[in-house]
Amino acid sequence: MDDRKFSVLIAGGGSTYTPGIVLTLLDHMKDFPIRKLKFYDNDAPRQKRIADATRIILKERAPEVEFVASTDPEEAFTDVDFVMAQIRVGKYAMRDQDEKIPLAHGVVGQETTGPGGIAYGLRSISGVIELVDYMEKYSPNAWMLNYSNPAAIVAEATRRFRPKSRIINICDMPIDIMDRMAAIVGLKDRNDLVFRYYGLNHFGWWTDIRDKTGKDLMPEIKKYVAKNGYWVGGEFDKNTEASWESTFKKAADVYALDPTTLPNTYLKYYLYPKYVVEHANPHHTRTDEVREHREKFVFDECDRITKNGTARDLTFKSDEHSTYIVDLCRAIAYDTKQRMLAIIPNYGAIENIDPTATVEVPCLFGANGAERLAMGQADTFQRGLITEQNCVEKLAVDAWEQHSYTKLWQAFSLCKIVPDAEVAKEILDDMIIANKDYWPELK
Ligand code: NAD
Ligand code: G6P
Ligand code: MN
Repeated sequence: MDDRKFSVLIAGGGSTYTPGIVLTLLDHMKDFPIRKLKFYDNDAPRQKRIADATRIILKERAPEVEFVASTDPEEAFTDVDFVMAQIRVGKYAMRDQDEKIPLAHGVVGQETTGPGGIAYGLRSISGVIELVDYMEKYSPNAWMLNYSNPAAIVAEATRRFRPKSRIINICDMPIDIMDRMAAIVGLKDRNDLVFRYYGLNHFGWWTDIRDKTGKDLMPEIKKYVAKNGYWVGGEFDKNTEASWESTFKKAADVYALDPTTLPNTYLKYYLYPKYVVEHANPHHTRTDEVREHREKFVFDECDRITKNGTARDLTFKSDEHSTYIVDLCRAIAYDTKQRMLAIIPNYGAIENIDPTATVEVPCLFGANGAERLAMGQADTFQRGLITEQNCVEKLAVDAWEQHSYTKLWQAFSLCKIVPDAEVAKEILDDMIIANKDYWPELK
């Protein structure tokens, strides 16, 4: 009988996503039992607000689970089986700059896309590598599932600088979209879909979607998406914020460019940057919305639980973000070979793309981590887009490694959403000042 129980560490314990993960872990005590839950963050007061509420939730729902929240790497990373990483180096204050600096120059300002995403990448690399090194030092047999963004640049950096480490980079966007696809065709959830998908992170396409009997669902989904994008509406979308509504709807225009595939929502920033900038408020961007909504809700709710000393009327919920990362841990723990997406070195998964690109493709998840599945050839449109964007990501990592101003200017200039090298330089120079506490000093 397999009576193992696992120890899980959430790195970035102060993340707005932490309570959702805690609830999902509690929902899965039967099929992924945990003996210990640990939090690690480098911002003690932020983490404490979530930890204090979590302690009460655990006391009421799973008192047998040991709970530790720490800012000490040795205490946090010792005796751990799975690390769920979700740090944001520079926090929302820097995300705000990533969005507003490009917009001030008339360019898309976005968390993981364009100059904002590259700037975030140069902050994240050392933070995530530090987590990997703590894991290898204190729990060398553990696996890290990493959500910390920008996942494409982080994954390129870990591929190069920690090639043997047990980190698997992941994203919840295709997961969210697949829950929408399932709703569109009247299936219960994403696990009812069998799919083929390829691309880079936040930059990919579905090429085939079937139900478990092999029935092709692409025609029905395409017909719906051509009209509505991925917007489902009704009960499904009752908590979806306005900016996400517009992104899901815009997928109709992204789809129109290649009706042979179904696109990731993030392609809107690359294919319709003019529209995105015209519809942005340069003084009130997504960061402001997140701080006014998700961050406020999460921390207010934690404070309320702590003040009341009970979590009986808790409103936190499991969602696609938390269920995906728990599904992945369970698949590795029990060697299930479940087919799910990961962001991993290409090495042939997309035949006509650089083998050293870091791509997002379906993998079989089991005791050896993620084993990539071959997705065949990218069509010319996709190959062109992927090759350019992957070179942007590689140049960003080159710039971080070599402390090179020129490489970073090249990354900004090559990026599809930046109109010319002069604008790229203006944005870059503003970003160097804003990121002075985080970036390597560029020469
Ligand atoms: P958040 O700012 O609420 O939480 C991030 C936490 O990380 C903060 O508590 C912060 O103190 C901590 N932190 C920052 N630098 C750290 C370091 N070097 N060491 C330890 N802790 C550190 O952010 P959030 O909105 O909850 O998002 C968390 C992360 O998850 C972000 O990187 C976000 O982009 C990412 N994310 C990724 C996906 C995906 O699809 N891959 C989905 C959702 C969120
Ligand atoms: C999706 C993406 C993440 C991204 C998040 C931003 O979930 O997959 O990579 O971090 O959206 O959401 P937010 O609500 O913070 O703007
Ligand atoms: Mn993502």
